[in-house]
Amino acid sequence: MSDHIRVLIDQGVMRITFARPEKKNAITNAMYGALADALSQAERDVSVRAVLFDAEGDAFTAGNDLGDFAAVASGALKRSEMRVHEFLATLARARKPYVAAVTGLAVGVGVTMLLHCDLVYVAEDAKLTTPFVGLALVPEAASSWLLPARIGHARAYAMFALGEAIDGRTAAAVGIANAALPAREVKDKGLAAARALAKQPAGALQATKALMRDAEAIAAVMARESEIFTARLKTAEAAEAFQAFAQRRAPDFTKIA
Ligand code: COA
Repeated sequence: MSDHIRVLIDQGVMRITFARPEKKNAITNAMYGALADALSQAERDVSVRAVLFDAEGDAFTAGNDLGDFAAVASGALKRSEMRVHEFLATLARARKPYVAAVTGLAVGVGVTMLLHCDLVYVAEDAKLTTPFVGLALVPEAASSWLLPARIGHARAYAMFALGEAIDGRTAAAVGIANAALPAREVKDKGLAAARALAKQPAGALQATKALMRDAEAIAAVMARESEIFTARLKTAEAAEAFQAFAQRRAPDFTKIA
């Protein structure tokens, strides 16, 4: 369990809330574990008919905790202990419908997880970034495939390689989100949508989701990404990126061949 992930089941909806606002909801290994456990429970529990993701504070999530990335790089956190893989596997093979309500900043996995959600509502002024290359990493959560498929290669490449941000309005325009709304309306809209899904016939919803996604192909892309991602965490480029974040300075990759 993690105190930083809140899980509440009500009226057929499992609401999963990122609750580490003081760290912009950056996701630690323990939080990935809690997310994976909650999503596995959602699949098993017949009283859960839809899942809603939202967040406390002014950020949806700042993505993976960079301290944990550094711990993997130093060997303090072993690959076998990294629960992100369980979380990603549950996303890939999800059968129940997922809804996301995104306010504020969404970074890295905070964006790539949206590609596994079935309905997404964003604040007009939300800021979505996937700065993997700037951290000397590669895209994850099958986003190397799913993001260009959704928004086109050129836009996806600019987000991955240059860390270009898109706002909520753009996210809706390019098909990452269903709608961009005033920030104060986003959570209510997400909850209303999840409750509406919970009233639909669960069997038909699950069969439709399964028809719309190739879970095996998604899992295979995740496995390929994960191998490269984990290897890259141990590179000199990544060490410079993580040190720069800890020291609150811009990284300098130009001296690394
Ligand atoms: N991992 C660990 N801690 C993080 C974090 C992350 N991904 N993102 C933010 N935090 C922490 C900061 O270290 C800071 O902690 P402190 O108060 O103990 O110093 C706190 O959250 C607030 O962040 P801060 O940087 O002061 O807020 P900001 O509004 O100036 O900037 C961000 C917010 C998200 C733009 C900035 O923190 C950032 O770039 N974070 C890294 C995002 C990232 O690269 N994620 C990985 C993607 S793969």
